[in-house]
Amino acid sequence: PLVNMSQQFNSILAALAGAERIFALIDEKPEVDDGIVTLVNVEEVDGQLVECEQRTNRWAWKHPHGNEFTLVEMKGDVRFHDVVFGYEENHTVLKNINLFAKPGQKIAFVGSTGAGKTTITNLINRFYDINKGSITYDGIDIKLIKKDDLRTSLAMVLQDTHLFTATVMENIRLGKRGATDEEVRAAAKAANCDEFVHRLPQGYNTPIGENGAKLSGGERQRISIARALLKDAPIVLLDEATASLDVENETKVQGALSRLLVGKTVLVIAHRMRTVEAADKIIVLADGRVAEEGTPAELMNKNGLYHRMVDLQRQSAGWRLN
Ligand code: CTP
Ligand code: MG
Repeated sequence: PLVNMSQQFNSILAALAGAERIFALIDEKPEVDDGIVTLVNVEEVDGQLVECEQRTNRWAWKHPHGNEFTLVEMKGDVRFHDVVFGYEENHTVLKNINLFAKPGQKIAFVGSTGAGKTTITNLINRFYDINKGSITYDGIDIKLIKKDDLRTSLAMVLQDTHLFTATVMENIRLGKRGATDEEVRAAAKAANCDEFVHRLPQGYNTPIGENGAKLSGGERQRISIARALLKDAPIVLLDEATASLDVENETKVQGALSRLLVGKTVLVIAHRMRTVEAADKIIVLADGRVAEEGTPAELMNKNGLYHRMVDLQRQSAGWRLN
């Protein structure tokens, strides 16, 4: 009986620890959303934008003013105006950040670890609210936009892809609710997923294990790119993976990305030389401030922080120079 009791005791302790976490989750306050601007499909009638029910692949922000409303076409213009932000009250992470990305521009963020690169992307999708200043999206303060709609309009490919214990098809479909099988397959193909999916025992209907355990790192990344492609959002937030992929996988991921980024406003946290050099503008962050900004050539000529970083990184294995 004593042995029995000690075993029971173990389970009780494990259950208590589990219960604590469950209760913490239940007690979590729901995210408040007082956004009034929504995203609607539009079409052009006599040179004017008009809201419509059917999918047109053209979107506009519907901004109510009393009984009236205006429609602002969604283009993908992002601006930060004197943004100040800290995760905790007495510790500012971003200090007076000013930046802009015009529709279709590719902006690369570089900077040492802890400089605030990921924080910038966290603010655009409003995982956190800023303390001072404002962020505008097509000229509209993102605080006014309904969070759900804001996030629908952004595609994210992050450093570590989160996949669910489900099939390949279901995982990609998360990019766009209600996408048809054909749409999912087309996105998968464009993201170079096709060839490895065909090798799986049940093709697109193969369960991929917990967090995609049955796939390689490069394959997981391509699934997340397929998701983003399916979403077809005007702004893409990209946190390049630092984990090194082999050359073959890397080429496939790059190929998939290049298809995703065509015509989109891209904010990329760059870890690879090639990405940085292809950007329209580089923003060097240091200690929560914009230390330098300009085209790759401008910054190289300046002989400042960026130049030093490139020299340093060229010597280390983290950056690929192909
Ligand atoms: N930070 C914090 N609380 C968080 C996340 C980050 O206090 N939940 C702090 C970090 O300690 C860091 C600063 O915010 O000092 C900036 O973090 P981050 O934007 O994540 O830095 P990155 O530039 O993205 O760094 P890395 O290259 O390592 O990803
Ligand atoms: Mg980061």
